[in-house]
Amino acid sequence: MLSRILILKMDIRLPKLLPRPIKRRERADAGPPKPADGSPSTPKDEGPSKQKEPGRVDILIAYGTTTGTARDVADRIAREAYNYKIGCVDEGHLCGLFEYPLGGNNAKTIFVISTTGQGEFPDDSREFWSELSANTAPEVPIHSAVIGLGDSSYEMFNYPAKKIHRRLKQLGGIGKFEACLCDDQHDLGYIGALNPFLGRLWEDWVPKTCKANPDAVPLARYTLLSSNSENVIPSQPDQMCDKLELRKMIRNERLTAEDHSQDTRLIAFETEASNLRFRAGDVAQVYPENFPENVKGFFDLFPQLKDQPPFFLISDPDMQWINLPPEFYRLCGAQPWTWEEVALKLLNFQSIPGVYAFEILRHFANDPLIKEKFDDYCGPGGLEELYNYTSRPRRTILEVLLDFPSTAALVPANYLFELIPFMRPRAFSIASPPKENHHIEILVAVVQYKTNLKTDRKGTCSYWLANYCPIGKEVGIFIDKGSMRPPTENAHVVMIGPGTGVAPFRSMIKQHAGEWDKHLFFGCRNKNKDFYFGEEFSQMVGRNELTFYPAFSRDRIGRKVNYVQDLLVKEDILFNRMVYDNLPLYIYVCGRAGAMPKDVRSAVKNVLLHAGVFDTEEFLQYMIENGYYQTETY
Ligand SMILES: Cc1cc2nc3c(=O)[nH]c(=O)nc-3n(C[C@H](O)[C@H](O)[C@H](O)COP(=O)(O)OP(=O)(O)OC[C@H]3O[C@@H](n4cnc5c(N)ncnc54)[C@H](O)[C@@H]3O)c2cc1C
Ligand SMILES: Cc1cc2nc3c(=O)[nH]c(=O)nc-3n(C[C@H](O)[C@H](O)[C@H](O)COP(=O)(O)O)c2cc1C
Repeated sequence: MLSRILILKMDIRLPKLLPRPIKRRERADAGPPKPADGSPSTPKDEGPSKQKEPGRVDILIAYGTTTGTARDVADRIAREAYNYKIGCVDEGHLCGLFEYPLGGNNAKTIFVISTTGQGEFPDDSREFWSELSANTAPEVPIHSAVIGLGDSSYEMFNYPAKKIHRRLKQLGGIGKFEACLCDDQHDLGYIGALNPFLGRLWEDWVPKTCKANPDAVPLARYTLLSSNSENVIPSQPDQMCDKLELRKMIRNERLTAEDHSQDTRLIAFETEASNLRFRAGDVAQVYPENFPENVKGFFDLFPQLKDQPPFFLISDPDMQWINLPPEFYRLCGAQPWTWEEVALKLLNFQSIPGVYAFEILRHFANDPLIKEKFDDYCGPGGLEELYNYTSRPRRTILEVLLDFPSTAALVPANYLFELIPFMRPRAFSIASPPKENHHIEILVAVVQYKTNLKTDRKGTCSYWLANYCPIGKEVGIFIDKGSMRPPTENAHVVMIGPGTGVAPFRSMIKQHAGEWDKHLFFGCRNKNKDFYFGEEFSQMVGRNELTFYPAFSRDRIGRKVNYVQDLLVKEDILFNRMVYDNLPLYIYVCGRAGAMPKDVRSAVKNVLLHAGVFDTEEFLQYMIENGYYQTETY
């Protein structure tokens, strides 16, 4: 009964932007879908019975996301609930937190929430949080678990997850589980914390009498429906994803010297007559395409797909609550889609496969030795072996499939959407000011490095933008709030941005010309090789708009290496003046995660100490909590 109510609620409250799920009735009229590749349809005889049996559980998974990771995680949990505990879980449900039925849900609920800005909730879940945190809080499900997605290089690590967890606990909605705090900095990415947590959760939530069937073929979320077939045309979203726009690349200029090891580009997109609105400090989320050699590699592996007629990609009848990411309708247009489009834009061939990919592969492998290998990767002690095979050398899913071509050939086409994750956008700080509304500029450090594999690793988005995206090509972009907020009052503003970290400060400085007392600390290797916007900043200094402190770490004076933090500690007089002045002091730090933010932080504490601040840690904490010390690291 509950499941029906939930489905009903979800249907009514579905936002316009999401593709409407195909109703069971429409599919029933259509008859059984025919796989587009002509492969036999997935055996469903081991599938779940639709009638709720005593002892089975209802599970609801609700996510809040900015760039889609939380949605991927929620999808995966839904699949797992369905696939592996199939005898125990009644219908699973998946919804965004914006449509979560607070007060009307007693299913065991898993909240998956990412973090944005400075420890903030993603836009799609702010309303949920204000309802949950209100004095008159609604009833909450008795059994809940919270999974947070965050990055420990940020000061406010996983704050939304921690807040939801604390509030649910207050309201009696959390059992024995602490929040699972996933960390981008973990060697295995978010699965490092997620996998063991889910293991414990299923163990606890799924009745002991129900046994998972490890040999059941995992269900695929999507079915391919040939556009040549006589099946009913599936419904398409009423509206395309509004926030995403296709914008022409109009500039791609290398800023670093040709003989410098780092290739960094100033890239611009035309934004005439665009709805892309941003503030200084915001980021552009950019969708790359796959490299041509990878698209070729894919079709070499699956030659039969190349000439398939266009097809509809629809939710499997058993998993109708899972929708396609709405942004793909903007990137590829309305369905049907061709395999060429899917291979170019939708699937990310460069992603590093996790355990789930091998869970799928082992079901289709028919060579006992290969099957055994995959079983090992998926087994309890297999994580390290898997890490050595995939994450450590950064082996991609396409390379894994190329390592096992005979197994790959046995994978039905709709399972490729399980094996290969969807393409996700990458964030780049906007380097141009909002007042230059004809373009958006970004500063892109091209990722290219070696591991013990033969071929160089190349950054999916940065390398593609720099090397494969021709001028004039339309690229999918949307604006995301950056985590740094410029001051709205007159202030001393200290900006510390080594490398590409300088990008948002260029935007702020240009946008707020004539405002604030601005100090920019910039760091790079050599004055003649990677001094981004050096000339521009020097001109601003000439016009008294900026005080500029560049550090060139490899242009050594004697044996001394010079970094931004070294420049900071020399500026105790400046800080002394700013701390005791009437104007407030704002400090911003942006750039690569790792040592820099920590070193800068301790350098700032150092100068504060010299400026006479007694308890520097407490002072800094006060600054952080009140927005006077803001960081954006990646
Ligand atoms: C808020 C925010 C703002 C950002 N702003 C900018 C910006 O202004 N400019 C900019 O260039 N980037 C910026 N980034 C980073 C950017 O989003 C991408 O992460 C970056 O461009 C790499 O993406 P990619 O698709 O090219 O590489 P991917 O294919 O995603 O590969 C990157 C991964 O490769 C691995 N890797 C990279 N180098 C090495 C190495 N030497 N050894 C081993 N492994 C390695 C790391 O695991 C890394 O996560 C920002 C990120 C965030 C979150
Ligand atoms: C602009 C931005 C700001 C972020 N701020 C934080 C933060 O303050 N704390 C944190 O733990 N993680 C932070 N993160 C990391 C994200 O929460 C993490 O990468 C997550 O996996 C993103 O999930 P999503 O794709 O579902 O939005 C930030 C990421 C970005 C891009």
